[in-house]
Amino acid sequence: MTIRAVVRGCGHYLPEHVVSNSEFEKTLDTSDEWIRSRSGIERRHFAAEDETTSSMAINAARAALDDAGLGAGDIDAIILATSTPDLTFPSVATMVQAGLGMTSGFAFDIQAVCAGFIYALGNAQALIMAGQARRVLVIGAETFSRIMDWTDRSTCVLFGDGAGAVIVEHQDGAGTSDDRGILSVDLHSDGRFREALYVDGGVSSNQRTGQLRMQGKEVFRHAVEKLTATAEVALERAGVQADDLDWLVPHQANLRIIRGTAQKMGLPMERVIVTVQDHGNTSAASIPLALSVGQARGQLKRGDLVLAEGIGGGLAWGAVVLRW
Ligand code: UT7
Repeated sequence: MTIRAVVRGCGHYLPEHVVSNSEFEKTLDTSDEWIRSRSGIERRHFAAEDETTSSMAINAARAALDDAGLGAGDIDAIILATSTPDLTFPSVATMVQAGLGMTSGFAFDIQAVCAGFIYALGNAQALIMAGQARRVLVIGAETFSRIMDWTDRSTCVLFGDGAGAVIVEHQDGAGTSDDRGILSVDLHSDGRFREALYVDGGVSSNQRTGQLRMQGKEVFRHAVEKLTATAEVALERAGVQADDLDWLVPHQANLRIIRGTAQKMGLPMERVIVTVQDHGNTSAASIPLALSVGQARGQLKRGDLVLAEGIGGGLAWGAVVLRW
């Protein structure tokens, strides 16, 4: 018998305010055509002034609890992936804990930028396998609109806000790839690539929040290569082949990266969940948003074999294979 971390429910939240590409034409030398053709993005959601990473995360968490038929008291731990916390501390996860009315268990944040949700899922699985938690609420939530340089057309048109949440719980499996739950995890980072994607502010450096800076071409170059490699390792560890996958659920940064990765894995786009056109790049929120939207669209069904993968600042990247 093997302990598995099995998905019990998922949910998401997107702010009401939707901004189309053409809105940027008013203030920047850009066009809807450029943004669509270079990134696949058509629109994105931006948080309202009174919305924060924690408020969006609480909404997504409530949706996941409803989907799972559970209450906050049924959760042992919250792991929240974000690079845009409400405050330097305490963690957003503890704000979600309080917001849900949860007075037991423990909660903490993980910061691995766009790979954050993959790291969080890996940590949730580890806690469950170690017997330290039976049910973990795993959230990705971001307000990247708060760290944009609105004069930099090469970055500010690419990102959006939102939150997604998944509940994983201890279940016993047979130890085969037919088990439901997380079947493998592969994580990597390489801090030598810090300059490729970073925020130019922070507590111990200049005491500012800072703004996002990205060498898009450099990140693009690493993305397809590293995502393909981590996917291969995760598939091998899970004992499955790319062809066995029902769904690839990639980090939603750029449709060209998504297509390139799917092509290298030999997967047709019909087996890829794509939300980048509607959400833009929501960093750590993008994969749980895609999972939840994929389930709501009727694409992702119980028992489906899924590979989720992401890469971002650090560079940090990784992949998870799971049976939904
Ligand atoms: O989530 C973390 C991971 N992040 C990513 O995966 C992002 C990876 N990178 C990318 O998605 C792409 O590199 C971008 C979408 C950011 C850019 O696409 P690209 O095909 O690599 O374009 P580029 O940066 O090479 O820029 C091409 C041209 C440049 O003009 P010149 O130098 O050729 O005259 C840019 O100045 O496009 C120009 N450009 C724009 N033009 C109109 C850059 N941004 C814009 C814009 N509108 N918004």
